[in-house]
Amino acid sequence: MCGIIGVIGTGQAAPLVLDGLRRLEYRGYDSAGIATLVNGHIERRRAEGKLVNLADALSQKPLAGTIGIGHTRWATHGAPTEVNAHPHGTARVAVVHNGIIENHAELRAELEAKGQVFTTETDTETVAQLVDLFLQNGLEPIAAASAAFARLEGAYALALIFAGHPELIIGVQRGAPLAIGFGEEAMYLGSDAMALAPLTRRIAYLEDGDWVVLSRQSAAFFNRDDQPVKREIKLTNLTGAAIGKGNFRHFMEKELHEHPVVIGDVLHKMIDQSSKMLVLPEFPFALESISRITISACGSAFYAGLTGRFWLESLAGIAADADVASEFRYRAPPLDANGLGLLVSQSGETADTLAALRYMKSRSQKVLSILNVPESSMARESDAILETIAGPEIGVASTKAFTAQLTVLAVLALGIARARGALTDTQIAALTDALLEIPAKAAQILINDAPIRALAARIAEARDVLYLGRGACFPIALEGALKLKETSYIHAEAYAAGELKHGPIALIDKAMPVIAIAPSGPLFEKTASNLQEAAARGGQIIVFSDAAGAAKLEKIAAETIIIPDIDPFAAPILYAIPVQMLAYHVAILKGTDVDQPRNLAKSVTVE
Ligand code: G6P
Repeated sequence: MCGIIGVIGTGQAAPLVLDGLRRLEYRGYDSAGIATLVNGHIERRRAEGKLVNLADALSQKPLAGTIGIGHTRWATHGAPTEVNAHPHGTARVAVVHNGIIENHAELRAELEAKGQVFTTETDTETVAQLVDLFLQNGLEPIAAASAAFARLEGAYALALIFAGHPELIIGVQRGAPLAIGFGEEAMYLGSDAMALAPLTRRIAYLEDGDWVVLSRQSAAFFNRDDQPVKREIKLTNLTGAAIGKGNFRHFMEKELHEHPVVIGDVLHKMIDQSSKMLVLPEFPFALESISRITISACGSAFYAGLTGRFWLESLAGIAADADVASEFRYRAPPLDANGLGLLVSQSGETADTLAALRYMKSRSQKVLSILNVPESSMARESDAILETIAGPEIGVASTKAFTAQLTVLAVLALGIARARGALTDTQIAALTDALLEIPAKAAQILINDAPIRALAARIAEARDVLYLGRGACFPIALEGALKLKETSYIHAEAYAAGELKHGPIALIDKAMPVIAIAPSGPLFEKTASNLQEAAARGGQIIVFSDAAGAAKLEKIAAETIIIPDIDPFAAPILYAIPVQMLAYHVAILKGTDVDQPRNLAKSVTVE
């Protein structure tokens, strides 16, 4: 979603800003722009579409200046055109913005009545016009910005520069994150530390409500009540380098190939390889005293959470709920006094998941978050975190972070089972053994990808695809359908296999591929019966199963993808991989922008 970067230094700002925007591309965007001060005047270059268009505009008409702000825009209010691209501004002030100004219509009416002339339909321009009016009324930039922030409603982060002030950037965080970078004779500001990583390792994070005044040499922080506050400078571990595609064509392809290593890294961290004992951190709450677990997340992370719920209930015997974060808090769910809130998020910034976290905290839950970005807002607001250590995930559609989330959840479920005495040490050792088999089997799937590529050719012809699964593999069916939709734009739905006869079976005809995630295990026979029902209606049955399962379904399967044998407990993690690979190969055949599918954002910082 929208990305912000700001630079004040001694050299040319625009090239640094453009580089920073490249590092924010992964968040998803559809237009981009930069503003600098040239001889004290605000100058802008903006372009619709990808950054290459902005780079072209800059090479045709370079932007001088040692101060600049830049933006990648994921359209919310107004189409993704050059006119609506950020920075927005007047002759006095330029603004970049991530989030939504909810009271923009009311502010706009008020400002227009006072003579401010708008040039776009965006909510962002109301910020520029509001600050502009305060400046015209004689306020200095810092006072004008602070007066404007007090009028804005919504969840947003902003960065502003001012004509005639070549040493001043003002930033604010109200619901969307901002990181501040400390350089040598230079200061930076960005939506995340990743954007700033090549510029500096010294990072301070704003707390929610904060605003910051940057000069070339300093940062002054203020809280929501305009009181000066101190924010600690930390050394980030992110490097400027860890962001290439290596020898792969796409980030998604590279990240798919990282599954074995990432799952292995998580297991290595969470399971002692010699004793096979679980290694969980000391939590600031006792696992055995938790009465109920409430899981919330969005997108693929939610499907990981659904699988986690299955493991927590069936292995640890603890009551667990799971809900998409955008719905969760609006039900005002009552939560147990000894409840644990469990959030799952790759970015740690997803607005709805963050809001769910805050709701949980407001209802006295201990909060544990499973995160890939340990320097994220959710990390800062949680009582404890478990890291998925998957490394930066750049492809918009989550891949390796998903299997890393599943792996962490699997180990956590075993840890809670141990704490509650729900499983014996011998049972836990057998289940950890099953997990430890995943990396090697994942590598086999990645190496032997020919059947998946062949299947992709069939799926690429389909208009609609149905995915079926049961138990812990139902969320993997959901993940398969989501990945196919988002990367290849083919309509896909996932159903719990037993639900087929309650509606979706009406859709089945010869043109409809029905993909079953059906590893051998306690639920296999039930899934097989549901597939018989689909086959009887002419559906093209495609089976993802092990050799034994595939043999049993041989008569009805139009195609079979054989997955290495695996214990049913570990199967969801392993089966997620071919399901994601299928989506990738279909997308390649369809020629879509697989790393940045249309309309999607990686870090969804609006509700
Ligand atoms: C977006 C991404 C998904 C991701 C979801 C949740 O929709 O495109 O891949 O699963 O956000 O993101 P999070 O960072 O919270 O895991």
